[in-house]
Amino acid sequence: MANDLAVPGGDKQSFFAKLFKKKEKPFTGEKMKVGIIGCGWIAGSHVVEYKKMNDVEIVAVADLVEGKAEKFAKKYGLKCRTYRSHKELIDNEKLDIVSVCTYNKTHAECTIYALNAGVNVMCEKPMCVTTEEAVAMAKAAKESGKKLSIGFQPRMDPNFQELKKVVQSGELGKVYYVQTGGGRTNGIPTPFGTSFISEETAGIGAVGDIGCYSLDLVLNALGYPKPLTVSGYLNDSFGKDPKTYIGHPEYADKFGVDDFAAGFVRLEGGICLDFRIAWAMNINTPGDTLFFGTKKALRVPSTPCWNGSIPKAMELSHVNQVTGLLTKKKIKRYASPNVFYLKIRGFVDAVRNNTDVSAPPEQIIYNQAIIDGIVRSARLGKEVEVILPEI
Ligand SMILES: NC(=O)c1ccc[n+]([C@@H]2O[C@H](COP(=O)([O-])OP(=O)(O)OC[C@H]3O[C@@H](n4cnc5c(N)ncnc54)[C@H](O)[C@@H]3O)[C@@H](O)[C@H]2O)c1
Repeated sequence: MANDLAVPGGDKQSFFAKLFKKKEKPFTGEKMKVGIIGCGWIAGSHVVEYKKMNDVEIVAVADLVEGKAEKFAKKYGLKCRTYRSHKELIDNEKLDIVSVCTYNKTHAECTIYALNAGVNVMCEKPMCVTTEEAVAMAKAAKESGKKLSIGFQPRMDPNFQELKKVVQSGELGKVYYVQTGGGRTNGIPTPFGTSFISEETAGIGAVGDIGCYSLDLVLNALGYPKPLTVSGYLNDSFGKDPKTYIGHPEYADKFGVDDFAAGFVRLEGGICLDFRIAWAMNINTPGDTLFFGTKKALRVPSTPCWNGSIPKAMELSHVNQVTGLLTKKKIKRYASPNVFYLKIRGFVDAVRNNTDVSAPPEQIIYNQAIIDGIVRSARLGKEVEVILPEI
C-alpha cells in the first residue's frame, strides 16, 4: 500500500478524479489565488480538486528539490510560477490560500510562515510532529486571524458524521472506554522514497501517519475531550529489517520512526482510550474501533488500509444483564463521496464566507498531544502528563 489514500497511484487517482468530476456553477467574481508548498503525491490530489473549482486559480507551486516544482506544474498542466521553498513562494506571491503538502517535519514551519504573512492554510495531516509545534501553529492562526484546517478528509464522509451523531445522542449512555486503531499487514509507505520513514523528514511513523486518523475518528465522536495522561509504546522491528523492502534493503538503515504504536490515554470525563496502530504486523488487524457505554456498545469495523474510512456498517449492541441476551442493530451505511474534493471545497468556502473550517487546530492539537505523549512516554518508559497552554 503506497500511503493513506484508498487509491494510491497516478492512474487510479486520475480514474477516480474523472469518476468524481463535479461540475461547478460558473463564477464571475474574483478568483482566490492558491499556492502549493511541497510537490509530492498528496499535492497532486490537492491540485486535481482545486482544478475542478471555478473560483480559485493555482498561481504558484514550490518544492525544495531542484526541478520538482517545474515537473509537477507540467504534469498537472499548471501555467504557474515555481519556487524552491515555502519562503520564496510566500514572499513573492499575493495568496489567499496555501496548501502545505510537505513531509511532516516541515508542516509547522511552512504553516506558521504562511499564516504570519496573512495567508489561509490547508495543512496536510498529521498536523505536525510535536505538541510545541501544534501549539505554535494554533497560536499563529489565532493571532493572524487567518484560517487553518488540517487535512482530515474522512471528516467529510457521512458515515464519520453519523458516528459522531450516535455517540453524541446519548444512545450509548456514558462512554467510559474506547478502543481504536488499526493498521496494515505490510504497508510501510516507501513507494516514492524514504520521506515517510526517515526521522529528518517524517519525525513520526505509523503513530502520526495513520494513527492520527483513528484518533480523529474517536475524539471527534466524543466531542474532542482533553487528554490528561498518556502511556505509550513504539516498535520498529519491521521498519529496521532489510527484508521488508523489496529491492531497497538500504531503506532499513534510513528507518528512524515507528512502524507500530500503542497508547493508553486518560481523557477528561473519566474516559479511557486504548489505541494501537501498525504499518506492518503478522495479523490482519489489531481490532475494530469499539465504544463501551453504560447503555450500549458500538463497533466501527476496521479497514485493511487504515485511512480513516468506515468500510462496513457500524453496529450497536446491548446485553440484558438479567437474561444475558445480546441484541445487535446495524447502522445504515451511506455511500462515501469524494472526500478529497469536499475537504478542499470546504476550506475554500470557509475562507470565502468566513465560516468554520472542517478540522480546526484547537481540536487537532489534542490529537497531536496524544501522538506526542506516546512518543515521549515510550522514550521515558513511563506515563506522561499532557500539559497544554491556553491558546
Ligand atoms: N490526506 C491524505 O490522505 C494524505 C495522503 C498522503 C500523504 N499525506 C500527507 O501529506 C504530506 C506529504 O506527503 P507526500 O506523500 O506528498 O510526501 P512527499 O515526501 O512525496 O512530498 C513532500 C514534498 O515536500 C517538499 N518540501 C518539504 N519541505 C518543503 C519546504 N519547506 N518548501 C517546499 N517544499 C518542501 C519535499 O521536497 C517533497 O517533495 C505528509 O505529511 C503526509 O502525511 C496525506
